[in-house]
Amino acid sequence: MTGPPTSPAPDRAASVISAEGVGKAFRRRGGPITVALEDVTLDVREGEFLVLLGPSGCGKTTLLRLFAGLERPSVGVVRFFGQVVKGPSAQAALVFQSPVLLPWRTVLENVMLPVEIRGHEGDEWRERALSLLELTGLRDFKAHMPRELSGGMRQRAAICRALMLDPPLLLMDEPFGALDAITRSAMNRDLHETWRRTGKTIVFVTHDITEAVRLGTRVVVMSPRPGRVASVTEIAIDAPSYGARISSAAYPTYLRSLEADILRVSEGHGAPETGGRIA
Ligand SMILES: Nc1ncnc2c1ncn2[C@@H]1O[C@H](COP(=O)(O)OP(=O)(O)OP(=O)(O)O)[C@@H](O)[C@H]1O
Ligand SMILES: [Mg+2]
Repeated sequence: MTGPPTSPAPDRAASVISAEGVGKAFRRRGGPITVALEDVTLDVREGEFLVLLGPSGCGKTTLLRLFAGLERPSVGVVRFFGQVVKGPSAQAALVFQSPVLLPWRTVLENVMLPVEIRGHEGDEWRERALSLLELTGLRDFKAHMPRELSGGMRQRAAICRALMLDPPLLLMDEPFGALDAITRSAMNRDLHETWRRTGKTIVFVTHDITEAVRLGTRVVVMSPRPGRVASVTEIAIDAPSYGARISSAAYPTYLRSLEADILRVSEGHGAPETGGRIA
């Protein structure tokens, strides 16, 4: 019988996952080669909230799948805690754009799924699931079926499930892309607060500049295909809460700066290799 995991104390300097000179090309049978990523070098640090921001088709999902071990690079190497990634790992949980919940299971049963798959037993796992549901405001809905939840609630349940085994790394591929703006705003706040409380390392994909600044401690702007790292901006807003963050004086400055980066990149002028901090 294995008890629920406990997170090690975060060491913010340590690298969780890294891409070193990574390129990825897809060859379709009888068709041309698509170069999705080219020469991507990126280091994700422990405890950070890293946002990958870029236009449709620039290789964001491909990079996330490489991080998750679901794809292998054509060139270069991906390392997870220093080890070359050779396949999927239970240490990196992936949250997809649309929540994939089993329709015949209750919310709690869906959240418990990774525990059952690994054969773990014990009341402490159920307690952990309930505390995650509490953290995301879903405890009262634990016996509901997925069809009885709103889209945002389903996505929160999927996030609880991803956190169940306490993976050091959470990979999120436009998890709120299908939600309306109001729900999305609330989900951004909730995810930010969950990140603050759990200290997880998160890599979050979006093509929404506002979402990037709301959430990221660092934002990587990617160029259109083949995706490259066009700029890296540290979002140095030291605020005690999500509300304080988006009301800070620096917040709109980051929005403008990233918007300018995106425009430069989409016009093909290229953005600086590394963007600066905004005081
Ligand atoms: N399995 C695959 N086979 C062939 N081409 C692929 C495959 N996966 C991705 N591609 C191609 O790689 C490029 C990058 O795709 P990817 O899905 O990573 O982009 P994205 O940035 O996530 O886009 P979006 O914002 O629309 O989700 C695209 O041109 C896509 O057609
Ligand atoms: Mg994608």
